[in-house]
Amino acid sequence: MRLILLGPPGAGKGTQAQWLKENLKIPQLSTGEMLREAVTQGSEVGREAKAVMEAGGLVSDEIINRIVADRIEQPDAAQGFVLDGYPRTLNQAEALDRMLAARGLGLDAVIEIKVDQQALVERIAGRFSCAKCGTGYHDTFKPTAVADVCDVCGSTEFVRRKDDRAETVRSRLETYEAQTQPLLPFYRAKGLVRSIDGMAPIEAVTAAIRAALPASGRLTN
Ligand code: AP5
Repeated sequence: MRLILLGPPGAGKGTQAQWLKENLKIPQLSTGEMLREAVTQGSEVGREAKAVMEAGGLVSDEIINRIVADRIEQPDAAQGFVLDGYPRTLNQAEALDRMLAARGLGLDAVIEIKVDQQALVERIAGRFSCAKCGTGYHDTFKPTAVADVCDVCGSTEFVRRKDDRAETVRSRLETYEAQTQPLLPFYRAKGLVRSIDGMAPIEAVTAAIRAALPASGRLTN
């Protein structure tokens, strides 16, 4: 199953990708996560991406398309993948089509997660994650079960993203509207888009995505 999760910053793409990864047994390919790792490592890509990400803009299509082309070649992606945060421009969407076509493959669905702007801002403002295993949380909507202890690995260290500051969030939302929203008509014309109400609680969004998966990806339990 090859899926795209499409939605604005804070819509819940990463949250839902995690569930899809675990239940469909396919990797989550998050370009944002790959770029954050590159920034932490201080690689050439990371050095180029850092300032752009902190300003809420988009890293160049050329870099991103190269990263994704390499990643989908990895053995764990042979049975499919969930793309989280890619494509984000028409140029990237066309590049993805070419990458898949060259391998005789196609996309199964594009899941659009729809969330109101005010809710996006609240979600991003309250987001934090475990510094050790990366599990994502929210101050209000998804707190740790025991205060300040990661549910998954027990770590007590947490981090907040630099690009989650209010001024950067505004730019990220504008970038989404200008550059990524036009992907919806592009994929609608191909009959791939399934729109999900992302304003519902996390578990209800998961259930809606589960019900919207193409028949080949439906889970029986
Ligand atoms: P990226 O990391 O992809 O960030 P994003 O798209 O802005 O998305 P987010 O990670 O902010 O949100 P999300 O939708 O995953 O929400 P989440 O599940 O965390 O990209 C970062 C940057 O990298 C970009 O700005 C760009 O510079 C660069 N970049 C990345 N890909 C690129 C590309 N292809 N081309 C060029 N540049 C690229 O949820 C948010 C919070 O809400 C969490 O705390 C969660 O617990 C909570 N939550 C989730 N669902 C719900 C719900 N239903 N109800 C209540 N709370 C919820």
